[in-house]
Amino acid sequence: MSNPDTILVTGGAGFIGSHTVVELLQAGYAVVALDNFANAKPSVISRICTLAGRDFTFVEGDVRDPGCMAALFRDHPIQTVIHFAGLKAVGESTRVPLTYYQNNVTGTLNLLEAMRGAGCRNLVFSSSATVYGDPAEVPIREDSPLSATNPYGRSKLMIEEICRDLAKSEPGWRIALLRYFNPVGAHPSGLLGEDPQGVPNNLMPYLLQVASGHRPHLEVFGQDYPTPDGTGVRDYLHVVDLALGHLAALKALPRIEGAIPINLGTGRGYSVLEMIQAMEKVMGHPIPWQFGPRRPGDIALCYANPDRAHTMLGWRAERDLMAMCSDGLTWIKSNSSLNSALA
Ligand code: WQD
Repeated sequence: MSNPDTILVTGGAGFIGSHTVVELLQAGYAVVALDNFANAKPSVISRICTLAGRDFTFVEGDVRDPGCMAALFRDHPIQTVIHFAGLKAVGESTRVPLTYYQNNVTGTLNLLEAMRGAGCRNLVFSSSATVYGDPAEVPIREDSPLSATNPYGRSKLMIEEICRDLAKSEPGWRIALLRYFNPVGAHPSGLLGEDPQGVPNNLMPYLLQVASGHRPHLEVFGQDYPTPDGTGVRDYLHVVDLALGHLAALKALPRIEGAIPINLGTGRGYSVLEMIQAMEKVMGHPIPWQFGPRRPGDIALCYANPDRAHTMLGWRAERDLMAMCSDGLTWIKSNSSLNSALA
């Protein structure tokens, strides 16, 4: 690809960011990735190059630093930004809300100011299904009511509103607000994956650590939800499908005017017990688990109506639950920091 467009990926060493950088490089784009390694490891950078078979520019920096943001646009001919950088743990956000608003909201304001100053008005933003709060109906459409029940979700909602106001204030902004459902799995190579620090908050990384013998059992949070088997139902999405969704959004931006929300989900919900059964099928043996009390703040049902992503981006999730579980297992058996911690 001659003279490839240059894409800035903030949070480019993170779980979803790193998978997206691989796909961008393989598609021929030039990439500038920014990360502060708050929730990622430097070793990811060389692994991205290995997978993509190409180099890219990496800048260690922080979206909370306006000078860093300005320098990025001064030093590189950035056409479009894919913005992942931010904090994403719901429980933690209730304990340190100001940290979440500084990183997520102020960081995004710094980025948008630098973009505007450089005349770059193309943005793909990492939003979340958490902006739907406790949905009145499922599958969830993009015009479903929005609400937030925690500082993390509120930060994503605030950023969406900021993007909508900015796009209304001046012409030329093309912003895809990608609302992720539940990203899981890992790159099939085993070189990239989710590597949470400490005890995982989310189901899949915890389940993988039980499946690989790093934790004794999984606790299923609640058995009395209004769902087919009483356990929580979510729309789990393979991280490679999610990365390809960002590539599709990037290519569709010239056809987008203003700030447009787009669900990235499979449209299929699975319960906690169905996730356990899927993992047991991949493992070939039972996995220890037990019922516990509901987790405060959890909702019963959350899964996407993914039609807009198909009509606007030509994207649909293709990887099934078996792939999500098997790719996740490949990753955790050979790479997660837990191995090194336990080694
Ligand atoms: C899934 C299901 C739990 C752990 C969160 C964030 C959301 C988004 C995705 C960023 C629920 C159950 C979990 C466990 C369990 N992140 N569970 N035992 O809560 O849907 O969404 O991650 O955008 O913002 O809120 O995902 O994986 O935490 O939970 O039974 O040890 O698994 O009750 O039903 P969630 P999750």
